[in-house]
Amino acid sequence: MPEHAAHSGYRFGLRISERGQVTGVGDGIAWVSGLPSARLDELIGFADGSTGLVFQLARDSLGAILLAQKHGVTAGMAVTHLGRRLALAAGDALLGRVMDPLGNPQDGLPPPQARQFRDLEAAAPQIVERDFVNTPLYTGNKIVDALIPIGRGQRQLVIGDDGLGKSAFALDAVINQRGRDVLCVVVLIGQPRAAVAGCVETLRTAGALDYSVVVVAEANALPGFRYLAPFAGCALAEHWMRAGRSVLVVYDDLGRHAQAYRELSLLLQRPPGREAYPGDIFYLHSRLLERSTVLAPRFGGGSMTALPIMETRQGELAAYIPTNLISITDGQIYFDARLFAAGMLPAIDIARSVSRIGGKAQHPAIKHAAARIRLEYLQFLELELFARFGTRLDAAVEDKLRRGRLLRELLKQDRLAPLPETAQLAWLLAYAEGLIDAGAPQAAAARLPALLAAVAAAGLGLDDPRERWLEVLRGALAP
Ligand SMILES: Nc1ncnc2c1ncn2[C@@H]1O[C@H](COP(=O)(O)OP(=O)(O)OP(=O)(O)O)[C@@H](O)[C@H]1O
Ligand SMILES: [Mg+2]
Repeated sequence: MPEHAAHSGYRFGLRISERGQVTGVGDGIAWVSGLPSARLDELIGFADGSTGLVFQLARDSLGAILLAQKHGVTAGMAVTHLGRRLALAAGDALLGRVMDPLGNPQDGLPPPQARQFRDLEAAAPQIVERDFVNTPLYTGNKIVDALIPIGRGQRQLVIGDDGLGKSAFALDAVINQRGRDVLCVVVLIGQPRAAVAGCVETLRTAGALDYSVVVVAEANALPGFRYLAPFAGCALAEHWMRAGRSVLVVYDDLGRHAQAYRELSLLLQRPPGREAYPGDIFYLHSRLLERSTVLAPRFGGGSMTALPIMETRQGELAAYIPTNLISITDGQIYFDARLFAAGMLPAIDIARSVSRIGGKAQHPAIKHAAARIRLEYLQFLELELFARFGTRLDAAVEDKLRRGRLLRELLKQDRLAPLPETAQLAWLLAYAEGLIDAGAPQAAAARLPALLAAVAAAGLGLDDPRERWLEVLRGALAP
């Protein structure tokens, strides 16, 4: 029965395939009709080999973000479902690499050989999978690690006007993860090429690229790329978190991300809301940041700490996107223009910064030593304001002012000079115990390096008893 055998591979049935058509194209988006079963975030393929991402569903058409552009999408071109969602190669092969949000190398090297892929859009971990923040994430920044501590899995907003050191702070935090078993993902959104190159170079020089991946959507990239970049970075971080690793993600910055989303939404005719942002912009950022968390031990114990950055205009925290982000995150680090102008670097405003959960993860020794410093410093700033009126001050007040000025001097820190946590404890203890009070503030602050060297030489750890610490510190200061 040769005829029958020839047909045995066939199955008879009905197969429905949809063929769509481009009805309009421009500005990195395309309108398509004739794909009624398309779903949001699904990939579609154009006849010229380009791909698009379904972004907007209308009654009888859909709006798509153009991703990989081949020869040029034109009106009338055929469109088909690709039957999958946007995914990205993930894993250790990406360490040291610079990629765009689709996983295309931006560093001139061949594509990374990764066998695992992760969806850009994924549901945040469920409550049962999560644990409380319980391990500190050391940024190496004096003010933050002592007074605004961050825990692994926390979402801490870095906010302030342009040029005040937000990116510098975040990069220093990445650099400080060297040798700590924390992998880093740096997402650069809408920055000019020179800034991107500078950032990559800074990381490379500091040896931080070995444990990091950089996801880039430059300022002149299509809005779709700028919109997808943080989700791509988050997916890469999620892969490691699910594998039980600790990850730090920097989103620099979400203001430009919101602008890309607004651009796309207006192009695709979503109704604009406050400040012309679409109504779901809050949901956009909360669904991104909700994916950062600590997983409970039985889910691997991995964590994803997020440092989203937001640029403000004239310190305006009450604008739409800043208020959204403040309410989504677990605290904020506020950079102030007046502090920067006064040379108080890093220009972190202690009064307006807060960490709502990191204190629980802070090491007890550091927590104890830093306990009164925040209050003391805020009182000093108030006192100093009064003292300007030239009233005669009594000795106790003079003393407070002197201590405050010393503290201000001690809190200064250069960039690219992250401080290990033992050095943190050393200066905190020396200050709290009044060991370095004598002399002018600058002179006292100049005694710090000797202290830190002594602590390192004695091999002190955070868990060593306080008495031992004080003994070493006093020894180092003895004439
Ligand atoms: N602790 C510091 N000590 C000395 N200089 C610093 C310090 N922190 C930041 N700077 C300098 O301040 C400038 C602005 O820093 P940075 O680019 O990080 O600011 P930004 O807030 O990210 O700005 P933008 O909003 O433009 O991205 C840089 O030249 C940087 O070197
Ligand atoms: Mg910046």
